[in-house]
Order: sequence, then C-alpha cells, then structure tokens
Amino acid sequence: MIHGGTLVDPTGTRPGDVLIQDGVIVSAGNRVESAPAGTVVLDAGGCVVAPGLVDLHTHLREPGREEAETVETGSRAAALGGYTAVVAMPNTEPAIDSAAVVRQVLELGRDALCDVAVAGSITVGREGTRLAPLAEMAALGVKLFTDDGSGVQDARLMRRALEYASSLGVTLAQHCEDSSLAAGGHMHEGEWSSRLGIPGQPAEAEELMVMRDLALCRLTGTPVHFLHLSTARSVAMVRGAKASGLPVTAEATPHHLCLTDACVAGYDTVFKVNPPLRSAEDAAAIRAGLADGTIDAIATDHAPHAKEAKEAPFDQAPPGMIGLETALGVALSELDLPIERVVALLSWKPAAIAGLAEHGRPITAGIPANLCVIDPEMEWTVDPARMASRSRNTPFAGRTLRGRVRHTVLAGEPVVVNGQAQR
Ligand code: NCD
Ligand code: ZN
Repeated sequence: MIHGGTLVDPTGTRPGDVLIQDGVIVSAGNRVESAPAGTVVLDAGGCVVAPGLVDLHTHLREPGREEAETVETGSRAAALGGYTAVVAMPNTEPAIDSAAVVRQVLELGRDALCDVAVAGSITVGREGTRLAPLAEMAALGVKLFTDDGSGVQDARLMRRALEYASSLGVTLAQHCEDSSLAAGGHMHEGEWSSRLGIPGQPAEAEELMVMRDLALCRLTGTPVHFLHLSTARSVAMVRGAKASGLPVTAEATPHHLCLTDACVAGYDTVFKVNPPLRSAEDAAAIRAGLADGTIDAIATDHAPHAKEAKEAPFDQAPPGMIGLETALGVALSELDLPIERVVALLSWKPAAIAGLAEHGRPITAGIPANLCVIDPEMEWTVDPARMASRSRNTPFAGRTLRGRVRHTVLAGEPVVVNGQAQR
C-alpha cells in the first residue's frame, strides 16, 4: 500500500491511497483505513504519487562500453530517479541494428530495476548508408528507431526510412545535426566560443536538419520525433509545424533548459555535450516550448562516460552528461510549472511517444503498478559520489535541487524505498 499521498495522473489530482497486489493496482483514490495483515506500507505523506517516469533517451552503453555504464547500473540510476521505463539508445558497440542485438539488450533488461525498452538504429551500423532491418526489430516490439549520436544525413535515405517506418507503424527519432556544418565544433558557436578559442558548431547545424525533416514529414505524412532540441529557432519551427497539422513530437533535456554555453568558461569537459549548451535565449525558448506544449517531453539523454575519457582536453573529450538521477529535481526546480505539468512531461507524454502501454497510465484498479512517489519539497544537494550510475559526469554536481523521489514501484515491487535502491 502507498499511504497518505496525492495521486497525480492524466485524469487529474486527488488525495488517495493505492493498494497493490500481485503487481497490479487493486484500488486507488480512497483512504484505506485498515490494510490486510502483512501489507507492506510505503509512506507517501506530503508526497505526490504518480505514474512512473519514462525516459525516451537513455544511453545504457551495453553492449560494448561497460566501463561507462551497464544495463544494471543504468537501470538502478533510473529507478532512483523515479523512472519505471527507459528507452535504451542504439549507439552501442555493436550498434542495435539487428534482431540479435535487440534480443541481447532486452535479455539484459529482464531483471533490471526498471523496464528496458530498446530503440533500434535506422541504418546499418548507424553509418547512414543502408537501411537497417527495421521489420525484424519491430517484430520484437521495437517502436522507436534512431541513429542517435548522429543524424541521418542523406535526405533520400531518410525519406525511404520514413516510408518504411510508416508501413511498420513505428516512429523515427532524429538527432538533428548537419554533420558538414557541425564538423570540428566542440561547443555552441557564439560569443563564448570566440572568447574561449574553442571551435563552435552553429545553431544552424541543428536547425537545417529540423527544417529538412519537417519537409520530409510533410512529403511522407509519417511522424517524426525530434530528439534533444536545443535552439530557439528549432522550437519555433516545431511550433509552426504542429500548428499546420504535421505529426511531429519533440523532446528537450534538463540541461538544455537551464544551462548555457557560459558554463564552458572553465573548459570543464563535463559541460561538453551534443547538441551543445546554447545561449540563455535558447534555454528560455526551450522552457517556453515545454510550457506551451510545443515540446512534448523531457528526456534525459543520460550519456555516461568514464572518468578517463572525460579527463581528455576539451576538443578530444566525448560529449555527453548523465541525467537519470537529477532530471526530476532539475525540472521541478527550474521550470515554472505546476507539478502536474512537470510529471506529464516526464511520464505519460513520453510513454505515449515510446508506445509503452504499461507506463504513464491513470492510477486505477487493474493496471500494472508502475509508480513513483515524489516529495516535491525535499531539498537535496547533488553528490556525484553517491550516484548509482557507473559514471560521474553530471553537470549539476554541488547544486541544491528541490524535489526528490521517495519511492519507486515497478510492477508492484518496491525497487526504491526512502531514496534507497532495494537491490
Ligand atoms: C550521446 C552519447 O554519448 O552517446 N552524447 C551526447 O553528447 N548527447 C549521443 C547523443 O545523444 O547524441
Ligand atoms: Zn543525440
């Protein structure tokens, strides 16, 4: 039983307890005076009880980069962050570009502390030249495909991929970056890159591909999901496209909504990420896009990198930041939105994009108990040494955030209790 909280779900907000049996919710919304003997009671006093969070963009690094993260450590970080499901990105080694690798990652995720869904790559080896066997991956339940880490550069190939995806009923997700324009850039191109002497990549490198994919979406009538949007003009283009009826969705990361290129001033590689941290105006546009629904979801782009890799000079270090354990706290602290809206951006809206039917559901009898309990007032300081992720590359180290996960329940199992992972 989850006792004493306020239920927040797509149907609204109401006080109530939740009774769970055999992984399934058996009652929700009433105060339970006496639970059956032997019931495990999780205290939700002062807390919001919500559908578990869903991350559209998690790099779990398995197979091939286990020194940075594994399915086990990444899913533990996810559970601590309130997630009951994550979508594992396919830029692994080898890439997730066949049924065999999809099976391997699904198998690794079977006993994980959150559900692990898989995104397949659009092209073989993410090389951008030949279409991957999307059908055999879709047959295993893969619903999202992306070459994330890079964008599909060839417009004709992307058009064919969209037509293929349409026939399979799956969604293509694009990492929008024109590689010829971004080449050689290690941060956002602007005043800070000039001052620091670090070659930049212009906002237009992202915007050109957003523009092109909006055109291809119109041409094919097939949905496109935009990963980690970072510029004001990208948001404006997606806003216009939605107004004209195009079937597009978009996500933004916690770091792009509150950090800027000024963070790079100390040459600390923890602030190196793709797309790069942009200007303060861009970050404000991301927040506005989240507030008005132009951006559908917050996705972490949790991108763990080993200490040794991040210790390289700025131009040689790999881009990426971890985010699973801080996303909710950052969103609650930095967005001027009521908690209901923040939870929507982190739970049921991404669940719908990922096609995860067992997550982000209204909290009612009969549905799988995938839930998180959030203390919205709890203040805590981000300490990388105490994180569950195998990597420590968080840009929020030392920050005080307001809002923290108290419990996470996965298919009825309390996997996080009082902020502690249970296995
Ligand atoms: C990601 C990674 O490290 O895999 N890096 C990043 O800077 N975001 C790749 C990606 O999401 O583009
Ligand atoms: Zn990406």
